[in-house]
Amino acid sequence: MDAAVNQTQDRIGVLEELLGERYSVRAFLPREVPRETIEHVLTAAQRTASWCNSQPWQVLIASGEAKERFRKLIYAEAASGARDDHDFTPPREYLGVYLERRRESGFQLYNTLGIARGDKMAYAKQALENYNFFGAPHVAIIHTDEPLGIYGAIDCGAYVSNFMLAAQALGLGTIPQAALARHSGLIRRHFKLGDNRRVVCGISFGFADHEHKVNSYRTSRASVADTVTFVEE
Ligand SMILES: Cc1cc2nc3c(=O)[nH]c(=O)nc-3n(C[C@H](O)[C@H](O)[C@H](O)COP(=O)(O)O)c2cc1C
Repeated sequence: MDAAVNQTQDRIGVLEELLGERYSVRAFLPREVPRETIEHVLTAAQRTASWCNSQPWQVLIASGEAKERFRKLIYAEAASGARDDHDFTPPREYLGVYLERRRESGFQLYNTLGIARGDKMAYAKQALENYNFFGAPHVAIIHTDEPLGIYGAIDCGAYVSNFMLAAQALGLGTIPQAALARHSGLIRRHFKLGDNRRVVCGISFGFADHEHKVNSYRTSRASVADTVTFVEE
C-alpha cells in the first residue's frame, strides 16, 4: 500500500477512534485540568466552521471558587422548582423513534445506577446532579448572539462537538449540558453577560472517574441506512 493511502487510513482511524471513545461523562475526579491543556482544547475548537464565519460562540469557563459559587447558585435555583427559563425553546415533545431513543438512554443511566423504573424521586435526584456539574472541576457556558437566531446556536453546537473531541484527544472527559440552559437568566445575571447573549448549553469537563459505575455504559446509534437517503435519479 502506498504512503498516501496509509496516511489517509491513519487519519480517519484517529478520528473514528475519538468519535467511538467519547461518551458523556457523569462522574469526574476532583483534579483540575492544567490551564495549558484547556487552552489547547479551546485553540483546536476555535477552528469550528460557522455561517459566514461569524464564530458566534463565546465561552465562559468557571473553575475553583468561581465554579463553586456558580454551582451553589444554580443548584439552589434548580432544586427550588423554579420555572424553566430557557433562552432557546426546548424540545416540545419526543415522539416515535425519538421517544424510544430517549427512553433507552434514560433506562441505561438508571439501570446502571440501580434506580428502579418509575422511581420519579430518584430520577429527579439524579437530574439535579447536572447542577453539581457531576463533580467536574470546570464548567463551560457556551453562549451566542441573539440576532443570529437558531443558526448561531447551530454554530455553537458544532463548536461543542469539536470541543468534546479535542478534549477526548487530550485525555479529558466532557458532558454537554442543556440542563444548565434551563437557567439562562440566572447565568446571564451571574456572569454579567450582555442582554444580546443567549445561552446555548454548558459543558462540564475534567478527568473522567473511570471507576464510577455511571461511566460504565455506552449509548447506541441508529445505522446509516436508518438515517441517510441517497437520491440519484
Ligand atoms: C446539546 C446536548 C445537550 C445535552 N444535555 C444533557 C444534560 O443536560 N444532561 C445530561 O446528563 N446529558 C446531556 N446530554 C448528553 C446526552 O444525553 C448524550 O450525548 C446522549 O445520550 C448520547 O450519549 P453519549 O454522549 O454518551 O454518546 C446532552 C447532549 C447534547 C448533545
